[in-house]
Amino acid sequence: MIEILNPAKLAQARVTGALVADILQALKSRATVGTNLLDIDRWTQTMIADAGAESCYVDYAPSFGSGPFGHYVCTAVNDAVLHGLPYDYALADGDLLTLDLAVSQGGVAADSAISFVVGESPAPESLALIDATQRALRAGIAAAGPGARTGDLSYAIGSVLSEAGYPINTEFGGHGIGSTMHQDPHISNTGRPGRGYKLRPGLLLALEPWVMEDTDELVTDADGWTLRSATGCRTAHSEHTIAITEDGAEILTLPTQDR
Ligand code: MF3
Ligand code: CO
Repeated sequence: MIEILNPAKLAQARVTGALVADILQALKSRATVGTNLLDIDRWTQTMIADAGAESCYVDYAPSFGSGPFGHYVCTAVNDAVLHGLPYDYALADGDLLTLDLAVSQGGVAADSAISFVVGESPAPESLALIDATQRALRAGIAAAGPGARTGDLSYAIGSVLSEAGYPINTEFGGHGIGSTMHQDPHISNTGRPGRGYKLRPGLLLALEPWVMEDTDELVTDADGWTLRSATGCRTAHSEHTIAITEDGAEILTLPTQDR
């Protein structure tokens, strides 16, 4: 299903997007050496409830996971990249952490992910990996607008990741979003310009470049959810929800401090 939002729903999408972004920033500022992933999950649960919003994750049971997710935020450390199931682990200095959060408020969902290094001495390789996903995300957003095709966005994202020297996995990518978290169209992280669905004002998309340093192969953790790099290499992921507007694209999940 592809949804086109009316102006009232688009206004709500801006509110939900700001909530997701501000929760992620609050989590980032609290996540330090020694912080337990289960505490990050509990803080998220509280912040969602305090805002009168709903988790898109806790009851989510797609084919690519095992049973309901049962948690409020994805926490992926180092070789873990997607769908990271929070568990009893205290963050260590230099850990590369990805937080991925989707919530629904007023009937509209927003989805965003950030990667960052915990502690004071990040490895240059970690920063390079994160930077590539952020630049790819910016390129995908720059390519988005009315009349652009999904392949244009995929091509823009994939070009940045490839030029940075990273392999690209095509099993998981971006997606339409609206009254539910995962909708059509799918936005692969690599593709050919001029191909695919033509974007229209009122469409919401979650763009989410993610990379693994030296492989395109994923393995599923024993927890049935967490996807890790097959080689154990480090990984990163950056995601924004955007709205297609009359003249371009608007980022809905910018933190209030960056607006
Ligand atoms: N928010 C993720 C995405 O970027 C999906 C997480 S699914 C979950 O599409 F079940 F792991 F929560
Ligand atoms: Co997403």
